[in-house]
Amino acid sequence: MEAHLTEWLNLGIRWIHMITGIAWIGASFYFVWLENNLNRSNPREGLSGDLWAIHGGGIYHLEKYKLAPPKMPENLHWFKWEAYATWLSGVALMLVVYYLNPSLYLIKPGVELAPAMGIAIGFGSMLAGYVAYHFLCDSPLGKRPALLGAVLFVLLIAAAYGFNQIFSGRAAYIHVGAIIGTIMVGNVFFTIMPAQRALVKAIEDGTTPDPTLPAKGLLRSRHNNYFTLPVLFIMISNHFPSTYGSQYNWLILAGIAMLAVLVRHYFNTRHDSSKYVWTLPAAALGMICLAFVTGPSMKAASTEAPKAAVITYAKIPATAVSGHPDVAKAAEPASTPAEPAATAPALAVVEFAKVNSVIQERCSVCHAATPSSPLFSAPPAGFILDTPEQIKAQAAKIHAQSVASHIMPLGNITQMTQEERDLIGTWIDQGAQLN
Ligand code: HEC
Repeated sequence: MEAHLTEWLNLGIRWIHMITGIAWIGASFYFVWLENNLNRSNPREGLSGDLWAIHGGGIYHLEKYKLAPPKMPENLHWFKWEAYATWLSGVALMLVVYYLNPSLYLIKPGVELAPAMGIAIGFGSMLAGYVAYHFLCDSPLGKRPALLGAVLFVLLIAAAYGFNQIFSGRAAYIHVGAIIGTIMVGNVFFTIMPAQRALVKAIEDGTTPDPTLPAKGLLRSRHNNYFTLPVLFIMISNHFPSTYGSQYNWLILAGIAMLAVLVRHYFNTRHDSSKYVWTLPAAALGMICLAFVTGPSMKAASTEAPKAAVITYAKIPATAVSGHPDVAKAAEPASTPAEPAATAPALAVVEFAKVNSVIQERCSVCHAATPSSPLFSAPPAGFILDTPEQIKAQAAKIHAQSVASHIMPLGNITQMTQEERDLIGTWIDQGAQLN
């Protein structure tokens, strides 16, 4: 019952987070687009430009004032609750997914870290991240936007690397996203909104607004603009184990974030310059390169071919496999290369019965039609490993999550050993036969 309630809490909050996030980012994309596409030739007195648009069957005419209309309108729309609601629902989601179950989702298996400490580090880093960012922007570095951007980038990737030492891959990613999200909402709350309020007040009072405030607001909203695409990737990243599950997940994140910034730059500049048209194809090419470098090694890719099994065995260092009698036996041909290769596979074949017993012991508490773990009321991700046929059919996924990476078992709660991972890997390399 409790697991079921958590699932629905997760569902409700995640849905709200998505809706408010779309409203926030959507409005922000729209205003950037407006600004970039204003017709600035011969504007009317007091205007900086105007724009015509058609949408939803109606034609709109928008005008931007240089400063403000002669008389403030009665009803001026502000955009802030989208941002605040996104952050609040994001923190709530973090609580439900990671902080309610820290040993399963948050803390890296094998790391000695008290759950409360992990939560304190996770939550503290969001606040610390904003404070550090705020001081950097106000420091002399704030006057050199490109250098500031580079410094922020390096610091965020350093955070990803640091999180990766103590948190699970997906928790490491999501905490970088949470730092960025907190910076973005902090910019709205502490800089952009006060600047706008000061502007409106000055106009109402008939005084000159302080010019430093809008300048600050502009730098911060430009940062927010470049942050959006990396943070959107992080939000969906837990669907992609080849990113967060990699040992080099922080480098992969750096690569994807860099490509995202290129894409954003293309859209920010294309209205008045073709200088940066190369950024879009460069980003696409970069994604293809990333797909290649994160791919399974040639060894893992060569399933079904019995010969490959011999090569695989030969590559396993005897020290790494000494714990498992089967694999240790299999490693022998490597030390006696003169032996005819044809005899090796017969010695090496991993029996399915052994694989099955490892999976039943390490995976089935969760991945069964009716999980025995109290943490799940239904098999997680609908992924069931009850029968030999199911195991065989899911071999590629099993390989990705528990051999090529150590994502599963979640939090290594069932204490799967390296020898067991090697055993399953070997069985899959040999073609995942139900012998
Ligand atoms: C403590 C419970 C638990 C254990 C034990 C566990 N898993 Fe999982 N597994 C999960 C959860 C939860 C998810 C869903 C992750 C998510 O939220 O995306 C999952 C997802 C998966 C997926 C992704 C399925 C898909 O279609 O996206 C694979 C593959 C997987 N597990 C394999 C394994 C293997 C293999 C083992 C044993 C070696 C194992 N798991 C042990 C909880 C567990």
